[in-house]
Amino acid sequence: MTNPNRATFGSKLGVILASVGSAVGLGNIWRFPYETGQNGGAAFLLVYFICVLVLGLPVMLTEFFIGRHSRKNTAGAFDTIAPGSKWNLIGYNGVLVAFLILGFYSVVAGWTLEYIYQSVTGSLAGKTAEQFAEGFNLFNSGVFRPILWTFVFIGLTHFIIVSGVKSGIERSSKIMMPLLFLILVGLCIRSVTLPGASKGLLFLFRPDFSKITSSVVLSSMGQAFFSLSVGMGCLVTYASYFGKNTNLPKTALTVTLLDTLVAILAGVIIFPAVFSFGIRPSAGPELVFITLPNVFQHLPWGALLSFVFFVLLAIAALTSTISLHEVATAYVLEEHHFTRKRAAILVSLGVMALGTISSLSFGVLKNFTLFGLTFFNLLDYVTAKLMLPFGGMLTCILVGWRVDRKILKAELTNHGTLPFYFFNVYAFLLKYLAPVAIGLIFLNELGLFRWLAG
Ligand code: PFF
Repeated sequence: MTNPNRATFGSKLGVILASVGSAVGLGNIWRFPYETGQNGGAAFLLVYFICVLVLGLPVMLTEFFIGRHSRKNTAGAFDTIAPGSKWNLIGYNGVLVAFLILGFYSVVAGWTLEYIYQSVTGSLAGKTAEQFAEGFNLFNSGVFRPILWTFVFIGLTHFIIVSGVKSGIERSSKIMMPLLFLILVGLCIRSVTLPGASKGLLFLFRPDFSKITSSVVLSSMGQAFFSLSVGMGCLVTYASYFGKNTNLPKTALTVTLLDTLVAILAGVIIFPAVFSFGIRPSAGPELVFITLPNVFQHLPWGALLSFVFFVLLAIAALTSTISLHEVATAYVLEEHHFTRKRAAILVSLGVMALGTISSLSFGVLKNFTLFGLTFFNLLDYVTAKLMLPFGGMLTCILVGWRVDRKILKAELTNHGTLPFYFFNVYAFLLKYLAPVAIGLIFLNELGLFRWLAG
C-alpha cells in the first residue's frame, strides 16, 4: 500500500512543527478571541476545552491513522480505507472544504499584510478608536486593495507549495513556528502588566454557566474543529508525509496541546488589553483589526508592537494556508496526474476567484446574502460549524465501525513497538461518544430538544 517514491517530512521536529503550523493560525489568534468575546468568555472556553479533548483529539488521531496508513492525498486515502464504497465522499468533501476555507481565510490573511504595511508606513499612529473602525471599514469595503493583498497572500502560499514538502512546508514551518511562540509570549507579558488587566483575565477564565446555550456549544465545537484543522482531512494529507517511526498518539497530543496553548495565549493578549482600554469584547471579526491597533498605539513602542503582532498573525496564517492549499494540490497532483506546479496553479486560481467574491462581500456585494449571511460569513459558518464537525463525525463512524481494530492498533502503535495505553478509551470515543455527541449538538442546534420539551 505504501508508495516508496512519496515525499516524507525529514525529521520528528518537522512533523510536529508542520502539523502545529497547520493547526495554529488565524483560527487561534483572530477567530478564537472574537468567538470567545461573542459567546460569553470563560463559559465558551470551558465547552471549547471539552470539545477539543473529547472530539477534536480523537478525530485528529484518526486522521493521522488514515493518512499514514494509506500514504495518499485525502480523497485517495478514504478510497484506500473503504474501497468500493461511498465513504470516499468524505475525502472529496475535504478537498472541497479546503477550497472553501481558503476562500475566506486568505482574505483575512490579506488584511494582516495591509496592517503590516500600515504599521511600517506609520499610518496607524495617532488615530482615535472611531478612526480605526472607519479606517478598517473603508479598507475592507474597497475593491482593489483588499483583493490585491488577498492575491499577494495566495501567491506566497503558492510559492511555498511549489517548493515541495521538505524544502517548502517543513523548512518554512521550522523557522516560522518558534518565532511565533517567542513573539506571543512577549506580547502576553506586555498585556497582563497593563492597568486593569485582571478584568480581562476574569472574563476569559471565570465561567458564568448561565451563558451556555445551544449556539454557544455549536460555536465551541466548530471552533475546536477549525482550530485543530480537523474534520476535512487536512491532517490526513500531512500524516501521509509522516515517517514510519512517527509516534502518532504523541504527535496528536502535542499538536492539540500547543494549539490550545496558543489560543489561550491569544486570549491573554487580547482580553486584558481590550478591558484595560474599555473596548467591547464582543466586537466580532474586527476585534483584532480595530481594537488591537488602537490598544497598541496607547502603549510605549506601539508602532513596533503592532508591526510585530501583525507579522505574527501573517506567519500563523501562512503555515495554515499552506496546509489547506496542500490538501487540494496533493489531490489534483495524485488523482489527476498533474505536475506539482500545474496542480498548484489550478488551486491558486480557484482560490483567487473565491477570495475575490469573499472580499467584495464587505463592500459592493454586501447586500447579496443567503440565510442572512454574506458570502464571507456563509463560507465561515458552513465550513467551521457544519462541514468540519460533520466530516469529523463520518470519519469517526468509518474508522470506528468499519476498520479492523487490529489494523488500527498496529498503525497507532507502529506495529506494537510503541505503547498506547489509552487505546481502549480512544476506541470508545471514536466508536460511540464522538459521533453521538456531534450528532446531538447538531440536533440541539436545530431545536429538537426544545421541540421535545414542548
Ligand atoms: N487551524 C487553522 C487555524 O486555526 O487558523 C485553520 C485551518 C487550517 C482549518 C487547516 C482547517 C484546516 F484544514
